[in-house]
Formats: sequence, structure tokens, C-alpha cells
Amino acid sequence: MPRGDAISSGKNKLGLTLPEVPKDPNEQNHGENGIPEVCIERLQEEFKQLDCTDKQKDRMEEFFNSKRAVGELKQDDLVNICELGQGNGGVVWKVRHKPTNKIMARKLIYLEVKPALKNQIIRELKVLHQCNSPYIVGFYGTFAVEAQISICMEYMDGGSLDLILKKFMRIPENILGRITVAVLRGLSYLRERHRIMHRDVKPSNILVNQQGEIKLCDFGVSAQLVDSTVQTFIGTRSYMSPERLEGAHYGVMSDIWSLGLSLVEMAVGRYPIPPPATKDIDDLFHEDPHGNRPRPEGYGCYKSLAIFELMEWIINEDPPSLPRTHFSPDFCDFIDRCLKKSTSERADLNTLLNHPFYKRYENESDSQDVANWIKQVFRVDSDVPNDNNQRRVGT
Ligand SMILES: Nc1ncnc2c1ncn2[C@@H]1O[C@H](COP(=O)(O)OP(=O)(O)O)[C@@H](O)[C@H]1O
Ligand SMILES: [Mg+2]
Repeated sequence: MPRGDAISSGKNKLGLTLPEVPKDPNEQNHGENGIPEVCIERLQEEFKQLDCTDKQKDRMEEFFNSKRAVGELKQDDLVNICELGQGNGGVVWKVRHKPTNKIMARKLIYLEVKPALKNQIIRELKVLHQCNSPYIVGFYGTFAVEAQISICMEYMDGGSLDLILKKFMRIPENILGRITVAVLRGLSYLRERHRIMHRDVKPSNILVNQQGEIKLCDFGVSAQLVDSTVQTFIGTRSYMSPERLEGAHYGVMSDIWSLGLSLVEMAVGRYPIPPPATKDIDDLFHEDPHGNRPRPEGYGCYKSLAIFELMEWIINEDPPSLPRTHFSPDFCDFIDRCLKKSTSERADLNTLLNHPFYKRYENESDSQDVANWIKQVFRVDSDVPNDNNQRRVGT
């Protein structure tokens, strides 16, 4: 939104501006020709050093095999099946890789930038080849055709959590516990192994599949791509932390805020700024006591704030919280620690990885409860979640 519009409409009383995205100080160096060598054997070796269950190792091995079979991606080898969704920077398609019949998700980002910058973005994106974790969506490759950059990734057949929330009234606490474990492990992998933060934690960037896996996608591996797309920030929701909205320096602690806000949204079934009234939450739990009811048409629709009102709210008002009447004390406390406006008071990753709420779910290495929940989502919906609003095309 142009800044002047908001000020002249009297809504931006503080004169806030949309934040600039700082460059990542940990930006990786990619050698002389800028393209990191992708050696699947080496990646496999690195992956073996991670603390994973046997099932996770098998799944990863399966992915490495598909990736080896796919090899270098070419535009002509990909056939569109249906659209999976659209976001800020582009559109995501479910595609089939003709030579291998592998189903993938292909994100198309339209960028009118100079060729040198486009090449730099592609180089930076290739670091994704090295991001292999059970909590990160797998990456097949990236290429550019004219102004369009393609990012091909593992297709997650349960879709994203925002889509699930559009079909269900809320997500129950035990599933949110599993989501918390996966997101914290994903963030900690990105930080420990790659020295990067996510920058865009939100329900639509947390994906699930029918095996019960929960994975992060769309993290800011390419500083140039973040610079080129985030400035078009629009919409009536923001998961950005107060310090980031104020344009101050921000870092990993900003991801923690975004996780906290996403969890509250999924727990109470709606974006929580402005916060729902206590009665709304009581009604929600009355109508959906077990967290498994499909969302009735139009349920939870409310007038959202304009973007600058929203920014002012996040910066000036008390952060959202969960009522102890409907959620466990550990979960409420976990949220309170994530949603501290001051970064010095906010819990860091290590603190959260030792929090009783995380601990309660960390050892349930069996992903069966999440898998059963996804199956239930499918059953009630009697349709593949992602295929609901999809535009099919001839293959
Ligand atoms: N790997 C994937 N597998 C399945 N669905 C995906 C995948 N990546 C993205 N999507 C879907 O595509 C939608 C659009 O994604 P995106 O362009 O990143 O926008 P946003 O994350 O802002 O919603 C997501 O909301 C999600 O539902
Ligand atoms: Mg996304």
C-alpha cells in the first residue's frame, strides 16, 4: 500500500512504513561460479548425522532416490495437474514430471529483474539442495525461463495448515503440540546447520501429508528473492513481529513471534488480531468440543483491520493469548513466551526446546496421531484438501 494513501485516510496515525528487509549477514558463499555442487551421496552422508528416527531416514532415502531419478529439471518435462494456491509472490501448481511420473509442487514466481540478479537468485536458491531434514519440504531444483522462476519441491498431499483451517473450525491442542515440535525442529535445523532464519513462518508455510509428516517451506534462503518479493506485501494479516513491523533490526526471535501467532490462530480458529471475545471462544468450544468439526459456511467471518491499523495494534496493544479455560497451562505459557513484544523477554529457540509443552510432544516419534488426523480431515471433507478450489487442466 502506498504510504501516502494510508496517512491521508487518517488510519496511519503513527506514520508507520512497511519494513525494509535487511540483508542476511550469514548469506552463504557459493564458490567461484556461484553454483554449489550437488552431490546426493554427500547430502545422504550429512543427513545420516542428524538425529532422526529410522522411519524418517527411510523417507529421506526415498526422497534422495526420487531426486536422483529426476536429475536436472526442464520446463518441457513438467505437466500441470492443478493449481494448489496463490500467494504474495506467485502461484503454486501440482505438476507431474513426465520422465519419472513423479508428482511435485512447482512454485512460479514472476520477477522482472535484470538477468544478473535473476542468476544470483537462482544461485542462492540452489542452497535449498543442501537443506535436508524431516521437517523441511524437499527440494528438487530451480530454473528460470524468461521472467519466471520455478521452484520445484516435494508435493505435500495434506496441503497447508491455512487450508485445513478453512475447512475445520479449529485444530486441537494435541495436534498443535506436534506442529510445534516439527516447526521448532525445522527452525533449529535451519539455524544450526545453515545459519539462516525462516522469515515467513505462518500457517500457509507449514505443510502436512498423509504420512503424518509436518514440514516447513518458503524460508528466506535467497536474500535477493526476499528483497525482490516481500516489498509487495499486501493483505489484512501479518505474522511479522512488532520489531520487524517497526523496521528495527530483526532476527531469529522474529520467527518465534510468528510461530506463536500462527499457533493461536489455529487454536482459536481465526486470525487473532484483534483478539476474539472470551464468549466467541466459549462458543467455539461448545460447538466443536473435540476439534474435529467442519467449518460451517461463513463461520468466523469478521471485519478485519486495515493493514496500518493492524500494524498499530501489533505494536501498541497487548499480544494475543490463550484462555486457560480451554487450553492446558503449559500451552498457554508457551504462547505467552512466544508472544512477548520485547525480544529480550521473548523465549529463544533453546528455551522453547526445553519447555514442558514441547517436551510433552517431543518423544512421540510415531506420527500416527497426525496421520489419523489428516485422514479424518480427508474423510470429513470427502475430497483431497488441496483439490477443493483447484482449477484442473488437461494433462
Ligand atoms: N509443496 C507443496 N505441496 C502442497 N501444497 C503447497 C506446496 N507449496 C505450496 N502449497 C500451497 O500453495 C499455496 C500458495 O503458496 P505460496 O505461493 O507460497 O503462498 P502463501 O504461502 O503466501 O499462501 C499454499 O498456501 C499451499 O496451500
Ligand atoms: Mg508459501
